[in-house]
Amino acid sequence: MNKPAELPMDRAGDPRVNRTVDPILDPAAGHASTALDSGPTPESRPQVGVSRAHESAHLHVSGEAVYIDDIAEAHGTLHAALGLSPIAHGTLVSIDLELLRRQPGVVAVLTAADIPAENNCGPLLHDDPILAEGELRYVGQPVFAVIARDRELARRAAALAKQAIVATPHPAVLTAREAHALGQYVIPPMHLSRGDAASALAAAPHRLEGDWAVGGQEQFYLEGQISYALPQENQALLIHCSTQHPSEMQQLVAHAMGWQAHQVTVQCRRMGGGFGGKESQSALFACVAAIAATQLRRPVKLRVDRDDDFLVTGRRHGFDYRWSVGFDDEGRILAAEIDLISNCGHSADLSAPVMARALCHFDNAYWLPNVAMHGYCAKTNTQSNTAFRGFGGPQGALAIEMIVDGIARRLGVDALTVRQRNFYREGHDLTPYGQQVEDNLLRPLTDRLIETSGYHARRAEITAFNAGSPVLKKGLALTPVKFGISFNVVHLNQAGALVHVYTDGSVLVNHGGTEMGQGLNTKVAQVVAHELGIPAASVRASATDTSKVANTSATAASTGSDLNGKAAQDAARKIKRRLMPLAARLLGCGEDALVFDGGEVRGGGQALGFKELVAKAYLERIQLWSDGFYATPGLHWDRAKLQGKPFYYYAFGAAVAEVLVDTLTGETRVTRADVLHDVGRSLNPALDIGQVEGAFVQGQGWLTSEELVWHPKSGLLLTHAPSTYKIPTANDMPRDFRVALFDAPNAADSIHRSKAVGEPPLLLPFSVLLAIKDAVAACGAERCDPPLRAPATPEAVLDAIEAVSSAT
Ligand code: MTE
Ligand code: HPA
Ligand code: MOS
Repeated sequence: MNKPAELPMDRAGDPRVNRTVDPILDPAAGHASTALDSGPTPESRPQVGVSRAHESAHLHVSGEAVYIDDIAEAHGTLHAALGLSPIAHGTLVSIDLELLRRQPGVVAVLTAADIPAENNCGPLLHDDPILAEGELRYVGQPVFAVIARDRELARRAAALAKQAIVATPHPAVLTAREAHALGQYVIPPMHLSRGDAASALAAAPHRLEGDWAVGGQEQFYLEGQISYALPQENQALLIHCSTQHPSEMQQLVAHAMGWQAHQVTVQCRRMGGGFGGKESQSALFACVAAIAATQLRRPVKLRVDRDDDFLVTGRRHGFDYRWSVGFDDEGRILAAEIDLISNCGHSADLSAPVMARALCHFDNAYWLPNVAMHGYCAKTNTQSNTAFRGFGGPQGALAIEMIVDGIARRLGVDALTVRQRNFYREGHDLTPYGQQVEDNLLRPLTDRLIETSGYHARRAEITAFNAGSPVLKKGLALTPVKFGISFNVVHLNQAGALVHVYTDGSVLVNHGGTEMGQGLNTKVAQVVAHELGIPAASVRASATDTSKVANTSATAASTGSDLNGKAAQDAARKIKRRLMPLAARLLGCGEDALVFDGGEVRGGGQALGFKELVAKAYLERIQLWSDGFYATPGLHWDRAKLQGKPFYYYAFGAAVAEVLVDTLTGETRVTRADVLHDVGRSLNPALDIGQVEGAFVQGQGWLTSEELVWHPKSGLLLTHAPSTYKIPTANDMPRDFRVALFDAPNAADSIHRSKAVGEPPLLLPFSVLLAIKDAVAACGAERCDPPLRAPATPEAVLDAIEAVSSAT
């Protein structure tokens, strides 16, 4: 029943999808192919740079992949459900525990008073109660947990929250603007500036003011939040948790219990998607299951319903902006001043690093000589917002893309031209936070895309089409992406791995990263197979487990394969180095002459099977397993001044979107999208293209259809189910979708010169929003600048059309 699987993104054979493979990646060219390679591995074949199917693809599609709710339940398992606050703000007076305990099947009811030690599940500041204590902060805040014989009975009892909770209501602050006006923040304001923006603004030939906002976004992982806690002997717990951050779950559970970390083991084989939503916010569920399991000495599972998942957890921060920019006659930006106000919800969670990343991505592709940015993290009585693919980067970069589009419309120049004029270039390549933009691919990559997409010819065709089409309007836009890779908190950029070579020559790799559908395990296994020169089928990746690799970072910031790939390579290299003296002796050659390749070790004109070598090594008592470690070099960051080198390198990309807008209904359709994206030298082109396609459509959903609405008085999130919250479907995919990889090795010494791919392509569909804006502009006077909201739902599109046409 409950077998959510990541949807396979491969639609080869779908006539609507026109996928272009970059000729450079063609096997004939000696590099990678996107054709899936499932046959036996020929000799002398690299294991990286090849398209391999996701290690679990066959399990995802057959329903055999085990998610946490599929793990066979241990005898005596109980089920938890959360009782949620019915009010947005108030003082908790009492909870009618007797009413709840009387309900059928109920074994126990837990409140904050049952938490043995710290009542906190917040990752940075300790401001996130597991269960409400004293204050109620938002509609949906967990106040108590019902533990019952089965899930249905637990949920029925928990649904009595409204009757059981007695509270005194207080006025609630529901919007970021309101909180900002009150100076109510979760952390102090952050400022990042360079030059003298105020004087440069005053002196600029042209000025543009803006006041705009973009909504938040629900992660909508297919597998909801879930934790299953099993008591172990001598005061210990094993927790199966759907989480991107097992080590933090371990720590937070230990803190809540008042235990040492060694008493808690957290495991995660895979998630049915995380998208940032399980970086910190899986903790509440892990803590509740852990506390209940320990108190009752029974296994306890907590799987929340989708509606409760929406009501309890936070999501992408919505941002409000106010900007002033100054520019010259050519559209070159001379000065920019901007306030970025994020809606953080009731607690800090990861809002500080999210805002820091937003400030570090406001520049996107552009040189800003004078700039002053002010980041305000507004505290509101809503869910606590958190990581979501891009982690503030999209919210920062979208603002400058809207600004550049506005400048172009004011000047009556194609926005692409204004973009190109503002690109980072030699001599103008220092970011506002002090990092040099090295190995800048913006120009070559966009030039290639302009050509392959036929941008200029299509621009002319669209202008002609619109002149003769009063109802349907087309729009076109090209947007670039520059995305900084690394956690913007330096110490998080580390990873560990454990590689076991068994005596039959097969290999088990464990690393600190988690698998959420992105293909990390596949890539890490490829790296290990490549290092040992053995077929990928000889390597298996096992579940993430805090008892195997300790003190890991979240699988986040797109760094999973960069960090864990390097750590696993380090472990495999250590094993290889231990095998080399023996191999050289057996083959009668020098160690320098040895080649590990195709399941063999060759040297001195002879060959030895890897299996044979390993079997002999065991008899010689050579250690056949090893740990590995990696820490990204060269990073430094001053958190107070927001200056330094926060990123190891940048990933680049660009997209051209063409849309069709029905001006009578406001409906939009992406008729074609051309994407060229930089993943360095791809470790696995099929997985990377899948990531680019998935991120594109996910970002398109954020900007066109996914709208969050809170009741303006009660503060209830009204859009808490797919009936009202519209994520994109297969039908919303660009009708003609051409995704290609820009094949150039990473100049930084990353794992096999690849680049991170998880988040950067989420910014590519800015082109969709701006193409819609372009189509709407065709309904108004020349040089009009449509006031289009994001998400550009049909209502928003109609409002913008009305605004530009009534102004005509
Ligand atoms: N892809 C799938 N299928 N499922 C996910 O949950 N999360 C994204 C991205 N791609 C995600 C995904 C996010 S938010 C990040 S940070 C990266 O994957 C994390 O994995 P990586 O670092 O291994 O790329
Ligand atoms: N991305 C994701 N998670 C993080 C980051 C980041 O840049 N920094 C700290 N936690
Ligand atoms: Mo991704 S938002 O860094 O989990």
